[in-house]
Amino acid sequence: MGRDAIAGRLKRLAMEPPIRLLVRAVVKRLPARASTRALWDVSDRPAYLLGLWHAARRAAREGIGAIAAIEFGVAGGNGLVALEREAEAVERESGVSIRVYGFDNGAAGLPAFIGDHRDHPDKWRPGDFPMDEDRLRERLGPRTTLVIGDVAETVPTFYDDPEVPPVGFIAFDLDLYSSTRQALQILSLPGRRTLDHVPLYFDDVEHSISHRFAGELLAIDEFNENHEDVKIDRWRGVESDRPFPEASYLRKMYMAHDLRAIAARSLDRGPLERRLEAVQVPRPPR
Ligand SMILES: C[S@@+](CC[C@H](N)C(=O)[O-])C[C@H]1O[C@@H](n2cnc3c(N)ncnc32)[C@H](O)[C@@H]1O
Repeated sequence: MGRDAIAGRLKRLAMEPPIRLLVRAVVKRLPARASTRALWDVSDRPAYLLGLWHAARRAAREGIGAIAAIEFGVAGGNGLVALEREAEAVERESGVSIRVYGFDNGAAGLPAFIGDHRDHPDKWRPGDFPMDEDRLRERLGPRTTLVIGDVAETVPTFYDDPEVPPVGFIAFDLDLYSSTRQALQILSLPGRRTLDHVPLYFDDVEHSISHRFAGELLAIDEFNENHEDVKIDRWRGVESDRPFPEASYLRKMYMAHDLRAIAARSLDRGPLERRLEAVQVPRPPR
């Protein structure tokens, strides 16, 4: 058995219950790389780390040297600080530089609701989650930009700044259908810059009160109905080959696919890649 096959078997063994619990405990205690922590869900925000890592790998494959990572809905900023910290770790390992953007309404908190069931007045109230902007700015480093204001106004001009790199990962945590609908424009604006496949995280799709006729789920459905070029789907296969495929955050991971950009692609495979594709590599038994 070759060295790669042995490594593959050991990796699979490490993922078996109950060994996986032991391995994760070890990974938590070691100064592990971002890719290792992304696999073992060792992060304050495993969804953010997984999205960032996947985006950086895709960017590297497409020859893109810098990407943007966005959090929509920042409030006190714990999520944005975690996104910034993980962006630094992913950048260090991947070599892809990552700029971080946080969009929020600031001290005003949640804006006025649309007036019917779609903004879930059964869960939130206007004014919830006010931000202490000065305090948050003290916690943020130079890679992160806070974009304060209603996303209905701030998103349409986002790409006007030529320094903004292609968007690689987005976390949506605006709570409201009306706000999420506006924020999703970032994927469809004329002149947008994104990867062909952008990992997305939606924070509010798995509550017991969640349904497809309100909130983020309705905003996603409407986006797909209204846009031909870009479609949002669940992140297919995200749970495959993971030690904890049942982790609940994986059900909140989606992917935006730029159909027009994909249609324009033609793979330029070298002779080595063609030969490797022709070889059927048997998967080790689970
Ligand atoms: C649940 S909080 C975000 C929590 C944060 N992601 C975290 O993990 O700590 C929701 C935030 O969305 C923001 N928000 C909702 N609708 C918005 C809109 N239309 N424009 C800008 N911000 C909005 C609110 O101001 C609020 O701070």
